[in-house]
Amino acid sequence: MSDSLLIRGASQIVTVAGRAPRRGASLADPGVLQNAAILVRDGVIAAVGPAAKIERLRESSRAQALDLDGRVVLPGFVDSHTHLIHAASRAEEYELKIRGASYQEIARKGGGILNSVNKLRAATAEQLKARARLFLERFLEHGTTTLEAKSGYGLDVTSELRTLSLHKQLAAEQPLEIVSTFLGAHVVPAEYRGSPGGTRDYIQLLERELIPEVAESGLAEYCDVFCERGAFSPAESRQVLRAGKKYGLRPRVHAEQLSNTGATRLGMELRAASCDHLEYLKPDDMRALGRSDTVATLLPGCDFHLGLKRYAPARELIERGAIVGLATDFNPGTSPTLSMPMVLSLACTQLRMTPAEAIAAATINSAYSLGRHKRIGSIEIGKQADLGVFEVADYREIPYYFGVNTCWLTMKRGEVVHMRD
Ligand code: NIG
Ligand code: FE
Repeated sequence: MSDSLLIRGASQIVTVAGRAPRRGASLADPGVLQNAAILVRDGVIAAVGPAAKIERLRESSRAQALDLDGRVVLPGFVDSHTHLIHAASRAEEYELKIRGASYQEIARKGGGILNSVNKLRAATAEQLKARARLFLERFLEHGTTTLEAKSGYGLDVTSELRTLSLHKQLAAEQPLEIVSTFLGAHVVPAEYRGSPGGTRDYIQLLERELIPEVAESGLAEYCDVFCERGAFSPAESRQVLRAGKKYGLRPRVHAEQLSNTGATRLGMELRAASCDHLEYLKPDDMRALGRSDTVATLLPGCDFHLGLKRYAPARELIERGAIVGLATDFNPGTSPTLSMPMVLSLACTQLRMTPAEAIAAATINSAYSLGRHKRIGSIEIGKQADLGVFEVADYREIPYYFGVNTCWLTMKRGEVVHMRD
């Protein structure tokens, strides 16, 4: 049976199987199998369990075999927060920040997101696409098999729609699955600033023109806002997210990243799929998140890159039963990494999550935040064969070797899409 593949010889298969999403103590159970094998049929996991049993199956004897020689298998990473499409790095701002300027100061002077907006508007679609293609290859090399991508560096009708249609084009031409989010409410663009009703007018553009058009074209599944001082207030964010909801776009929120604004409460009020960042979360909101189905997506790459000391309260969130997820927040201003293994390292040392908790947060819980936990995010019968194979003997070594990419092979729907030579 040429469409079957037998994956054998792993030292560990970290399945993250069972109840989804993972909360509290269940986040720490990685479901590790030893002396185990996986049988893949037509891109889907047909069997997983003790090697002796799986290898004896009649289908296994005819299947193509992939011998892992003692390596570790994980579900492919689900990176549930990225700003994939942008035209250039902001390395010059990185240096300013190292010399003492804050992210907010740079933004107030017209740098920051507006800097990226100017560059994106000036770039051609082909330039943006070529750049994103290279990034997508790097994501695959690090074991990521599904990725959420936000617009938000266009901030006008043409440039936002262009970004979202690039998500669609890129999804069609390479193996990584791309989940598209509309982030028209990233900041108020320059041309709407300086006049008294500027912000109101821009929100009106979002509500009356952009959101309807995005929804009608089917170019996004989610609507996000950057709810922060200098971006959008909770009241403004509510307006935008409600408009999105009306058109079938489920909310996600950039919440409590640089200050506490009440964005998390807004997210829960609107039944957002996810509240992301949460460095300045208040204890009441931790408890409320613990009782809600909104995922608390933590992005420690931002604090690391910006050199900030205040990381999100992961332990408190886990103790209170919140659904904790992890993502890179790949973007040119606050987190220029596309490495989920590096995010795992930061989650372990800075957020004090165990390697098992970090892996579950980066796979099944992130899949849940994207509404895809029934199909991806764990290694179980009936799920898509999206896998990462790592050149280590114990899964804890993946975050342990920080800044080192131990990913050896990546598989999407049963196809090898990256293999280290
Ligand atoms: O997730 N906080 C808002 N958005 C991004 C940063 C975007 C930028 O600086 O370009 C974030 O950190
Ligand atoms: Fe972000």
